[in-house]
Amino acid sequence: MLGILAKRPADILLSGECRRYLALSRWRNGDRYLRIHEDLDAGVMPGAVEHNRKELEKDDFGSYTRTVRLINPLTSLDPIYGHAPKMKVLSIGPRTEMEILHLVAVGFHPANISALDLISASPLIDTGDMHNLPYGDCSFNVVISSWVLGYSSDPQRAIDEMVRVCAHKGIIAIGLTFEPGYGRGVVADNPADDEIVGSMYGSVEEIKTLVGDKLDLIYFQQQPESDDQKGPVMLIARIKHD
Ligand SMILES: C[S@@+](CC[C@H](N)C(=O)[O-])C[C@H]1O[C@@H](n2cnc3c(N)ncnc32)[C@H](O)[C@@H]1O
Repeated sequence: MLGILAKRPADILLSGECRRYLALSRWRNGDRYLRIHEDLDAGVMPGAVEHNRKELEKDDFGSYTRTVRLINPLTSLDPIYGHAPKMKVLSIGPRTEMEILHLVAVGFHPANISALDLISASPLIDTGDMHNLPYGDCSFNVVISSWVLGYSSDPQRAIDEMVRVCAHKGIIAIGLTFEPGYGRGVVADNPADDEIVGSMYGSVEEIKTLVGDKLDLIYFQQQPESDDQKGPVMLIARIKHD
């Protein structure tokens, strides 16, 4: 068994529990010093840093399954299958190293993976803000935003930034959860006092509208079957810059 694994050690990271174990061990055995991005754009949802800090410090790294739903279809695509080792990929909002380890598992080279979050205790995750990405135009072949867009009160800017840093014919992958009853677009949890909680979308069409005319081709899409149903909204699409 070990001999088989030695041929391609990254295969062990195909197991979600192994990714969780490794990421959690690195977090627990590190200094747990949390870097927090300070120059927050107006689009950062109020309370986003505090909420995610609490989630990280819960110390259980429970949810590796969401991002799997987005990375699995992504890696089936012909432009990625077999080409991943040479592609530059950006993970926006990974929170823990689990998403990065999954990208390694499916063939992306560690040196070609960048990651950015408002908070980070990992040398693999830069601190930064999705509304103001510190990367040049067309820097990445793949840009992933896995369950992050909901934390934006300026989702148009967040998507514009994803598209900007994505190469011509590059791929963006977006996933979020729709929860009926919260409204659509930039939403407030209590409409009476206008307290913004972020953004909420229930259909791929709404995400396509945010991407706008730079959307070239849709590879994969998923949404709840009806407006009163909770469920994932996912879009994987090719971007054009001409
Ligand atoms: C729900 S977690 C998603 C974790 C992982 N991507 C997944 O799919 O399970 C959302 C992450 O997005 C980060 N985030 C929220 N707003 C952000 C922003 N403006 N810029 C960068 N990261 C942000 C949070 O700090 C958190 O780590």
